[in-house]
Amino acid sequence: MKIGIDKIGFYAPHLYVDMNKLAIARDVEPAKFTIGIGQEEMAFAPMTQDTVTLAANAALNILDEADKQKIDFVIFGTETGIDSSKASAVYVHDLLGINPDARSIEMKQACYAATAAIQMAKGHIALNPESKVLVLASDIARYGLRTGGEATQGAGAVAMLISADPKILALEEKSAYHTSDVMDFWRPTYTDKAIVDGKLSNEQYIEFFAKVWEQYKVKTDASFSDFEAICFHLPYTKMGQKALKPLLPETDEVTQNRLLENNEASKTYNKRIGNIYTGSLYLSLLSLLETKEDLEEGARIGLFSYGSGAVGEFFSGILQPGFKGALQPTRHKEILDSRKEIDVAEYEERFNNTLPTDGSTLELEKEDDPSSIYLAGIKDHMRQYVNDNR
Ligand code: COA
Repeated sequence: MKIGIDKIGFYAPHLYVDMNKLAIARDVEPAKFTIGIGQEEMAFAPMTQDTVTLAANAALNILDEADKQKIDFVIFGTETGIDSSKASAVYVHDLLGINPDARSIEMKQACYAATAAIQMAKGHIALNPESKVLVLASDIARYGLRTGGEATQGAGAVAMLISADPKILALEEKSAYHTSDVMDFWRPTYTDKAIVDGKLSNEQYIEFFAKVWEQYKVKTDASFSDFEAICFHLPYTKMGQKALKPLLPETDEVTQNRLLENNEASKTYNKRIGNIYTGSLYLSLLSLLETKEDLEEGARIGLFSYGSGAVGEFFSGILQPGFKGALQPTRHKEILDSRKEIDVAEYEERFNNTLPTDGSTLELEKEDDPSSIYLAGIKDHMRQYVNDNR
């Protein structure tokens, strides 16, 4: 039985910062951010959008009523969840009106969690071929103003429906994975900003890719030439090629050129959104599928997932007949193109303006946030979510 991605969509908040302007404000050469790091715009979430609403808005765009009845498992991958106890999946399950006879959980392992969610979904579908699993990957990346990681922030969510006989990507059976206790990036529960050793995280990412790729080759007898493209977790869009390039000499020139060309296509949306942590790999997959016009049915796509701390995995899937008809490039272009730019002063002010943590009531104005699902306020420590469609 084929199991894999039947539907996939993303959502990004309606505000963004221009990376050229951020560079100038930080007294940095703009080319460092736009070329050296590879980011053009950085999505910024207003107070009316949190990881729950971003995920719910992403899922809203891909699910129909029949899907909602078939879904019996909602898995929410995030490292910027809103609660240490209650799963964000429960809120999304309610906001979207999903079948009540469902499991709803949250998973965490830095930027790797959505991959674990997909693998768990795959196992669930293998045992229950009629059901569908909603996998959500949603994060708001915050390192702090004027920090080394500031240029690699972002906000957004990817929603995926995992099912039997998927319309887009059938996941292959074998996968290679690795865990090692590394302090390259972490976020203690007492802070909303990540702590990162940027250089170490780059090194570990590159080392993990080399390790899981070696392991994958042993398990499958595959080589780079078997792949049309490889999508990478993209904390910033330059990162994937930094891991790929050192290994390319093991393959022929035609394959090298193809993988590098497709690596460019797989960055398109990420360049305009920034880091969305666990959703970044899947935003990269969407970029490839929706912007590379000559991808063919039957092509093999590799996926490298990395979550600091650290866990890495390399796995693969085969593009299914008619996959292009299941994508939403027009809607996704509209989400990106209709956003509003905020200047650096407004970004800084909004960055420092966070929800109360003392139980006091705050009612939020939706202002120009176009999302159907949003946060209307907080009361008695409870977030007040609204879905305008119901
Ligand atoms: N024009 C073009 N490129 C330029 C440039 C310019 N004027 N100035 C610098 N660069 C390049 C550098 O050569 C470097 O490229 P390279 O990595 O290919 O050598 C790149 O821009 C980044 O420069 P660097 O000095 O390393 O940046 P930094 O010290 O500000 O750190 C990160 C960059 C990504 C490490 C930092 O933003 C960070 O810690 N981010 C969060 C953690 C993260 O994303 N980790 C990734 C793995 S999960």
